[in-house]
Amino acid sequence: MKIFDNKIYGQKDGCFCFDGQNLTELADTYGTPLYIFSERELKRNVQEINEQFGRFREKVSIHYAAKCESTVAVLQIVRKAGGSLEVNSGGELFKGLYSGFKGNQIVFNGVSKSEDEIEMAIINNIKSINVDSLYELKRILRVAGRLKKKAKICLRIVPEVSTGVVKGNETGTHESKFGITLDEVERAVRLALENQSLVILRGYHFHIGTQTYDLKSFVEALRTMLQMAARIYKSTGFRPDLLNIGGGLPVPHYIDPTASQYMPRNIYAMLKSELSIEQIAKEICGELAEEKVQHWAGVECGALFRDTELLLEPGRKISASAGVLLSRIENEKERRELDESWLMIDAGFNTLMEVKTYSWYYHMVCANKMNELPTKPFKVAGPCCDSGDVYFDIDYHKSLPDYRVFPESTEPGDLIAMLNVGAYGTPNMSNYNGRPKAGVLLIRENGDVIVIKPAQKYGDLVSDEIKL
Ligand SMILES: Cc1ncc(COP(=O)(O)O)c(C=O)c1O
Repeated sequence: MKIFDNKIYGQKDGCFCFDGQNLTELADTYGTPLYIFSERELKRNVQEINEQFGRFREKVSIHYAAKCESTVAVLQIVRKAGGSLEVNSGGELFKGLYSGFKGNQIVFNGVSKSEDEIEMAIINNIKSINVDSLYELKRILRVAGRLKKKAKICLRIVPEVSTGVVKGNETGTHESKFGITLDEVERAVRLALENQSLVILRGYHFHIGTQTYDLKSFVEALRTMLQMAARIYKSTGFRPDLLNIGGGLPVPHYIDPTASQYMPRNIYAMLKSELSIEQIAKEICGELAEEKVQHWAGVECGALFRDTELLLEPGRKISASAGVLLSRIENEKERRELDESWLMIDAGFNTLMEVKTYSWYYHMVCANKMNELPTKPFKVAGPCCDSGDVYFDIDYHKSLPDYRVFPESTEPGDLIAMLNVGAYGTPNMSNYNGRPKAGVLLIRENGDVIVIKPAQKYGDLVSDEIKL
């Protein structure tokens, strides 16, 4: 995939444009570092997933993963576009409700939910608390008993499927901290069924990780869940009315041809993933078809999933392509000993943490020099006082290339745009090194540009601290 295959990008007078807006002008007006989101792209992404899955199945709900990008305006756009919500904490549940989602549009995941969070979920009558362990199920029963109010739940299972990405991004194997193992699920089902005055067991959930690039991983995890559900139906009579296949829909990233040579093949395949939503929807929904289920599970199970609602929890696929990050080059240096040119920009891991935590690759362009050919390799570094605050792997080659290629003339004052940063960007910002967090703009569908989260000022660094 090439950059301009996505019509959200363009160029004018040598400047890079996002959703029709000249990014150089926005940086001049609002300062950097600066996140910019597109309402049009957010809506398009929600609608595309809804439409593609809707083609193959009647009851489908898209629960946008709030952890990706939970600025209130973004949540409001997702809701208006027809999305529901997935949350991972009381705070995200609060933001979801504040943004207008109803309890029955929200599912709640997490390995370490507190009693307060469980209470909040029950009081707001959310669609499903996705139970992460037998212990947590007992805890939910306790809280529901105290509140005298039923909790709606699904059981998060471990399908034991590896997606081939870095370990920190895999969440469906025994090595990861999530979910109930298959040998324990039936005990959890029986416990829930014995306590129907306290919980309504609605179904099952899995999430195998982010950026799942191989369709086989989704299918294998789903088959595991369906086979388990059929086995449990035969032994307990429990029919799931929700089946949740989590998030992980992949986003195609643009990668410099020169950068790709440094990447391990699995990381390259993961980042480039061109697996379409249509392919995923067709295959997943096909697995639920009555004849297919009947074939492997027997006549009595044929209709087991016929009326079941299919839930998805995409995050990255909805918000990643809807966001860009602008950063100004503040300094340059030549390391003649190593024959290297360096550029220091004003956004580091304080602004884009995923580069550090997962060595995530984000494509960069010199946004004000689009008329010049990118021919010169540069090392790119952020402003923080750590040698590790760089856009390459300082310790060893994991997935990041050593160099980014920009026009020969690139220098301080120029503007770097990082693409596909709309997921896991702003929620991970910090004030490390006393750096105010970047502001967030929204390009409205009518072309208006508004601030949806102002850039912090120095005063914000102390506004929640107590002076002696
Ligand atoms: C339970 C759960 N659902 C959904 C998601 C969203 O994943 P993605 O952004 O890859 O779609 C995550 C991300 O970690 C998750 O943990």
